[in-house]
Amino acid sequence: MSGIPHDHYEPKTGGEKWLHRRLPIVGLIYDTIMLPTPKNLNWMWIWGIVLTFTLVLQIVTGVVLAMHYAADVDLAFASVEHIMRNVNGGHMLRYIHQNGSMLMFLAVYLHIFRGMYYGSYKAPREVTWIIGMLIYVLMMATAFMGYVLPWGQMSFWGATVITGLFGAIPFVGETLQTWLLGGPAVGNATLNRFFSLHYLLPFLILGLTIVHIWAFHTTGNNNPTGVEVRRTSKEEAEKDTLPFWPYFVIKDLFALAVIFLVFWAVVAFMPNFLGHADNYIEADPLVTPTHIVPEWYFLSFYAILRAFTADVWLVQIVQFLSFGIIDASFFGVLAMFGAIIVMVFLPWLDTSTVRSGRYRPQFKIFFWIFIANFVVLTWVGAMPAEGIYTNIALIGTTYWFAYFLVILPVLGLREKPLPVPATIEEDFNQTIKADLERKGGLGRGPEPERVPAE
Ligand code: HEM
Repeated sequence: MSGIPHDHYEPKTGGEKWLHRRLPIVGLIYDTIMLPTPKNLNWMWIWGIVLTFTLVLQIVTGVVLAMHYAADVDLAFASVEHIMRNVNGGHMLRYIHQNGSMLMFLAVYLHIFRGMYYGSYKAPREVTWIIGMLIYVLMMATAFMGYVLPWGQMSFWGATVITGLFGAIPFVGETLQTWLLGGPAVGNATLNRFFSLHYLLPFLILGLTIVHIWAFHTTGNNNPTGVEVRRTSKEEAEKDTLPFWPYFVIKDLFALAVIFLVFWAVVAFMPNFLGHADNYIEADPLVTPTHIVPEWYFLSFYAILRAFTADVWLVQIVQFLSFGIIDASFFGVLAMFGAIIVMVFLPWLDTSTVRSGRYRPQFKIFFWIFIANFVVLTWVGAMPAEGIYTNIALIGTTYWFAYFLVILPVLGLREKPLPVPATIEEDFNQTIKADLERKGGLGRGPEPERVPAE
């Protein structure tokens, strides 16, 4: 958005001019933090910053944890206990890292759903969206491998179940699984490579995050109206925006402070609330836990994976037509990966000309059903894969695919949207006016009754 600067970097001192001619890095940083940002952004635009901050927190705590962790099946469990009991601050470090991953997933889901509601994936922000999806997949891989490292019962059996999915792929499955595990079963080679990749991937995510930020700095932020910043003149653009510093920095810091207050309370007082007790039992390949459940942030996709049992007619038809190559377990794997891949194509599946869901009355209904469905799938993913639970998972999975492949494409063509404000400034002024009317003035309460002059 370099076309609408509020203020541009001008090197002043001799030293600044010297550096600017050779490497304009100060200018780059300056223009980044002074980025003209739509002035009507609401509180749902904080999750990107929360994610950036949490990513750094995860890398810092992870690097220190790695200094004391031993990636060996005979030592891993004990080394984590050693971190918790003997390493200075180790207890805190581990719990920050463990709960930090959950905060990161909470933030990423809110960030994605915000984008889905306000149509942030639509042109010209498709690349920002696709890079986001790449980051999300890498986050899942990183979290999955990280969970194996403490070498508890859930680590071991979770790894066995999930890598077993690759074994369901026809023809190449078994070879692929052995290649991934580094042997015929989850063992020392698996733990070692998972540690190596768990260390590497966050840096890749960091690199992609920089590209992600670069991409939306190029197009400019979306905003709750979905209306673009006017670019016809500098004056008009400045009426729609405010510089990122100090306005949005202060807002984001406030949000971060509140969120981290809650985070610290969880880390300090209930660090294992969302964890699984079985992971405090050392991995035992001879004892299978009664229920193998992944972490909460994977549960919706886990539910989709298990929704397709052999008695589902669709599975039977596909199995028949594919001469038995696509059986129930492979079908489940395809559905699970498909549920993520379909999201990548969202910019082209949503056919509406109106960007923001705020002005799409019917879209709103389907969107909130989608969110409720996500919660239900998360719940059902934690339940045993039998009876009513598989039926619920099947209905939820059907809605998931229908939302992307049928509802959004058709709705965009049929829906009659509400009038959209002409400019961001207009929306901003209306909001301020409504706010003042509600409060009865600038925080001073209702105007006092005037006594008529004699
Ligand atoms: C480590 C993970 C991520 C980080 C650090 C990150 C960071 C950010 C930041 C700082 C912003 C601008 C502020 C905001 O909108 O909150 C942003 C915007 C955006 N992100 Fe992400 N993001 C991440 C993951 C994702 C994912 C998984 C998606 C979706 C698949 C996504 C899609 C978007 C989109 C579409 C925008 C543009 C919104 C707009 O223009 O207002 N991001 N991201």
